[in-house]
Amino acid sequence: MSASTPIYVTQPDLPPLETFLPYLQQIWDSRALTNGASFHRRFEQALSEYLGVPHVSLFTNGTLALVTALQSLRVAGEVITTPYSFVATAHSLMWNGIKPVFADIDPVTLNIDPAKIEALITPQTTAIMPVHCYGTPCDVDAIQRIADDYNLKVIYDAAHAFGIRRQDGGSVLTHGDLSVLSFHATKVFNTFEGGAIISPDARSKQRIDHLKNFGFVNETTVVATGINGKMSEFNAALGLLQLQHVGHAIERRAEVERHYREHLADVPGLAMLQEPAGVTRNHSYFPVMVGPGFPLSRDALYQRLRDAGILARRYFYPLISEFSMYRGLPSARPDLLPVAHEAARQVLCLPIYPALTQADQDRVIGLIRG
Ligand SMILES: Cc1ncc(COP(=O)(O)O)c(C=O)c1O
Repeated sequence: MSASTPIYVTQPDLPPLETFLPYLQQIWDSRALTNGASFHRRFEQALSEYLGVPHVSLFTNGTLALVTALQSLRVAGEVITTPYSFVATAHSLMWNGIKPVFADIDPVTLNIDPAKIEALITPQTTAIMPVHCYGTPCDVDAIQRIADDYNLKVIYDAAHAFGIRRQDGGSVLTHGDLSVLSFHATKVFNTFEGGAIISPDARSKQRIDHLKNFGFVNETTVVATGINGKMSEFNAALGLLQLQHVGHAIERRAEVERHYREHLADVPGLAMLQEPAGVTRNHSYFPVMVGPGFPLSRDALYQRLRDAGILARRYFYPLISEFSMYRGLPSARPDLLPVAHEAARQVLCLPIYPALTQADQDRVIGLIRG
């Protein structure tokens, strides 16, 4: 790409348009556009096989899936969550009238620190909502132990965790009571907009499927105050096709990450996240931490890249706990969240996507190296 074309932090991966046209033709021929038609059923099945999970419920987006996951488990009161995430994590609680309680994060994984959870539990606490941030798995065993001890539900915001597996082959999405994926355009796997809830058994899936369809169980019976969260046939057909390409896309991302790691390892004051051991990753983000030993502040580096047309992003800055609707909460006090604040001050996510050329990547590296 020419030096004047901006390089974004990500670029959606799309299949060749001509391969999608036969799918569109089928939708046009059938006139079945939504309401759990053929592509919806096929994509749910194919996705549960690809991910190695028992049950998938497709949604219009990850945020409505989060809202519905909380509804389906009748979560109320207070939920312990992380401030170091995209704002939809906490917004999904607020949309259910639930009070978010922020716990600090682990300095290595940047996920919720299980050691900080117990002290925040009150009689009103009903659940924990951790995030597998950047696709790094949370300490799922420690979180489950706390949940078992205090009889709490666990709902994973797994928006970044598409396809993450442990070395034994098991999906990370089978932990907790439910896991929620996002297929937004910026994600490793996209259906333009989309999302899903992974549930462990057919009964949970059935309740979720009713909730995403206004609460209808049949033509005349409504059993819950459901919402319209249904994925359309257009998005489901695209998802079915995208599944054929996502493996290659993840391989390409892995190459981009390797190149960054090789060429940024010796930069003073710049730290990369540890690669989590024993998991197959999706390389969805490439965050670097710009520490005091780096010649520029994080924001000065962000600006240097921007001035050169490279739109790196400060995910996650500001913290969720700093936004106006959250900062008055007792758990949002900055002195209680020192690790999250330091990460938010230092983080910069560099461009990573399958179509990123080595020449463009070398420009990014060159600008960082000064
Ligand atoms: C951690 C996290 N949670 C939730 C969401 C919301 O997903 P969606 O955009 O599909 O509504 C996103 C991304 O957009 C996210 O990164």
